[in-house]
Amino acid sequence: MVLSSTVVSSAAFAGTVTLTLVSLKIWRKKGARKHSTAKKEHVLRVRQTHFSSSQSVSYLNSGPLMFVQVRLCLSSLYICTTNINYSRALLYSLFPIIFWQGTGSRLIDEAGVSYLDTRNNVAHCGHSHPAVVHAVQQQVAQLNTNTRYLHPITTELAQRLANLLPDPLEVVFFCNSGSEANDLALRLARAYSGGSNNTIVLDDAYHGHTLATLEASPYKFTHGTEYKEQSPGPHITKVSSPNTYRGAYRNDTTAGALYAAFVERACQAYRDKGETVRAFVAEGGASVAGVVLPPDGYLRACAAAVRAAGGVYIADEVQTGFGRLGSCFWAFEHCHDAASMKDDEPAVVPDIVAIGKPFGNGMPLAAVVTSKKVAAAFEKCGVEYFNTFGGNPVCAAAGLAVLNVLEQEELQQKAWQVGNHLKRKFRALQDRIDLIGDVRGSGLFLGVELVRDRRSLEPAAAETSFICSVLKSKYHVLTSIDGPYENVLVVKPPMVFNHADADYFCQCLEDAITKDLAYAGDLSSIAKTPT
Ligand SMILES: Cc1ncc(COP(=O)(O)O)c(C=O)c1O
Repeated sequence: MVLSSTVVSSAAFAGTVTLTLVSLKIWRKKGARKHSTAKKEHVLRVRQTHFSSSQSVSYLNSGPLMFVQVRLCLSSLYICTTNINYSRALLYSLFPIIFWQGTGSRLIDEAGVSYLDTRNNVAHCGHSHPAVVHAVQQQVAQLNTNTRYLHPITTELAQRLANLLPDPLEVVFFCNSGSEANDLALRLARAYSGGSNNTIVLDDAYHGHTLATLEASPYKFTHGTEYKEQSPGPHITKVSSPNTYRGAYRNDTTAGALYAAFVERACQAYRDKGETVRAFVAEGGASVAGVVLPPDGYLRACAAAVRAAGGVYIADEVQTGFGRLGSCFWAFEHCHDAASMKDDEPAVVPDIVAIGKPFGNGMPLAAVVTSKKVAAAFEKCGVEYFNTFGGNPVCAAAGLAVLNVLEQEELQQKAWQVGNHLKRKFRALQDRIDLIGDVRGSGLFLGVELVRDRRSLEPAAAETSFICSVLKSKYHVLTSIDGPYENVLVVKPPMVFNHADADYFCQCLEDAITKDLAYAGDLSSIAKTPT
């Protein structure tokens, strides 16, 4: 049945009015609710007036998806009888969420509903971790100022950060965001390579929103029309993502060398024109590309190729740094098969590392770390680097607290244990559920790829969107969708995510697939749930 969007909206609206009344009654009775849905509607209206629609908000679901949920609720005996909260869940799915509070791996909305957060890699130590809160409170009460003065917190943080990276990475530049960090990394690389802008990036990568980083983010220009040529120009070359589940070299044991050959050829193409290369930029585990961990040997070969062409290897650790992969502190150190690494083949060391999101546990803190050699090339340009807020004492206090918590609570080790547990459970689900085509990743950086057919790998995008929406609406589990086909559930929770969280998440995922999705009917009109 095809319905016009007016009918869909009316159905959703009628559902909203009725359910709002029902839900408000429930809330009053419990006496625990602080804010009404009207407040949420107001916030959304103000946002729509004063924010551009290009600034996305999570769970702003499309009309057709709401309609499917209305249909589920009203016409499916199964859903109505087994899920008494579904009407309230439906109400929530009509709007994005306002979160009011956070603790550990949980976020609490304005109505007091607690959501399990499987996706927030910013609140690395957990939402509102008391040690980070305390450090920030103390410092902001004492002093916050621009970064022109000496401050021991900032220098201590630089020292601690440099100690976490291999030699010769020891020069630290602080900034406020991952985009700024990658932008500055590209600037340093340009200075080092004698002024080249030629940059090699991976298909489906995202490195930031500034002009320079956006140009180096194929993910953005394949999902819109800003760059109509599908590439911002000859100075950016995108090469195949080293994906061994789908892509040119599936399940190939020599995939590392084969995928690196794309980078080698790109470098050679610039050399043939008599040009040097500025940089090869890559994450040690590609995030928005749908959790793609490069095959062994790949990064080392790419780094060698770009260095031979006069450039540098920039490791974007904005999402993956600080122990998330469990097996290593930085994703560029990850090795699928550590036992096969020879002693004379240490993990690759990047020339520049960009760090962001988790560093301040929510405070705007990012950094670029490089060698003295690269820094010296930048200094030679005679242009100072000044960043008013980058590494200010309050954000630096947050950063130090994060490093302390990581150590004291052994969060990297826990990410390894819980991640392995979660991966085993996902794999057990995969044995029972054909829709789960692949389970991959390391530690608390996991991807679950959903396909309609395990041989053709047809992406199950609408199903993924539906599952993600139901997980949020019915089970109060927040997940994210990524990958070039928008069919990968990307799992990157706060590092305090524990075994019980993992068990609950897997049970909800199983129910969402085997119960809710099984009764959902035709999903052809479902658009991506923005996550
Ligand atoms: C891999 C990667 N690099 C850089 C960025 C940009 O970071 P920010 O949003 O802090 O500017 C992001 C943001 O999602 C990212 O995922």
